[in-house]
Amino acid sequence: MTSAIPSVADNATQSVMDLEREYLLQNYARYPLVLARGKGCYVYDPEGRRYIDFITGIGVNALGHAHPRIVKTIREQAALLIHSSNLYYHPYQGKLAKRLAEMSGLQRAFFCNSGTEAVEGALKMARAHGHAIHSEKYEIVSLENSFHGRTLGALSVTGQAKYRNDFEPLLSGAKFVPINDIAALEAAVNERTAGIVLELIQGEGGIYPLTHEFAAKARELVDHYNALLIADETQCGVGRPGTYFAYQRSHPVILPDVVVAAKPVACGIPLGFILANEKAAAAIKSGMHGSTFGGGALACRVSLEFLDLLDELLPSIQRVGGYFHVKLNELARKHSSIKEVRGFGLMLGMELTIPGKQIVLDAIAEGLLINCTHETVLRFLPPYIVTEKEVDQAVKIIGKLLAKADGQVS
Ligand SMILES: Cc1ncc(COP(=O)(O)O)c(C=O)c1O
Repeated sequence: MTSAIPSVADNATQSVMDLEREYLLQNYARYPLVLARGKGCYVYDPEGRRYIDFITGIGVNALGHAHPRIVKTIREQAALLIHSSNLYYHPYQGKLAKRLAEMSGLQRAFFCNSGTEAVEGALKMARAHGHAIHSEKYEIVSLENSFHGRTLGALSVTGQAKYRNDFEPLLSGAKFVPINDIAALEAAVNERTAGIVLELIQGEGGIYPLTHEFAAKARELVDHYNALLIADETQCGVGRPGTYFAYQRSHPVILPDVVVAAKPVACGIPLGFILANEKAAAAIKSGMHGSTFGGGALACRVSLEFLDLLDELLPSIQRVGGYFHVKLNELARKHSSIKEVRGFGLMLGMELTIPGKQIVLDAIAEGLLINCTHETVLRFLPPYIVTEKEVDQAVKIIGKLLAKADGQVS
């Protein structure tokens, strides 16, 4: 069944929403939809209505839902050992770290549970690296419009006042420069800089890719001032761009000192990581950092299974991502409410001339899940298993909604 959500929530949905309204912090503005299960590229509500999932839990469900190999791995490992803490060894952290080292070109890994936690660890690494050189070498340069997470350190380097304002003062020494502004970057970096933090494609900020020249200048500056280049690949990495990591798309590759990632790496089981070259890793010595949950047996084993599948999926991520991009550009030629299409691989954004929120709500009613960031950018993060068939279905719905919007605008 693919019919629309009712305009008035049915009783079961309403009672789920009412309970949350009574007992949860009111920090989320959820869409009025309850999800009950998923299969492949689709999710279903409790009444069995079907939705094409083009947001995948904000870029997490990389293999869609209920992938048989992920389900089998979770079942097997859950019956053996879920968690043991980092007091002891288990067989999968080392294997996963080796795998990530081969994929990334960075020698050492640290495992945690989320993007923000990975960013925190990377910031500590940069601070400790700087501190070992000079007590005044603690500044972090990041980008305006960036997003790095909700914990205090990650917030401090998030270049959007709306996330930071209520929590000031945050970490001292954070500086922001406009995206792709080489002169501003040069002006901000100096002997006091411990690290530069970048998203190769800004995600939450509205799908803005960095230029090769800007990333190259960041590499040059960190080399000159002995600081660390940190790529936050939480949203733009681990297969989504059609390569293992977004920095691998450029030629020649600009290798960061540190890479952080999370979202898709264990297909919905919380897992994040920091990858570091020997120089950056040397900053963190025994006892300086840790995590109780980070790198548990279940999460690591699921991640290994995912990475095996990812190798086979990269060509289709590139092909279907390219197809989707072309189709969105075709829509852009037809609809005056589309300003621009941006991104690559399966990380695409469509900037509108009108607010996107109503389009997202109307898309749900048509059986498509997407979201909107920065008021006007529709964000598409489909699962890596997506095919041209689901893209056609999604594009048809988006086209229909934009035709309606064009009619309203004119
Ligand atoms: C680039 C980037 N960094 C960090 C984060 C924070 O990740 P998490 O929500 O897992 O803490 C996000 C989340 O959207 C992100 O997009």
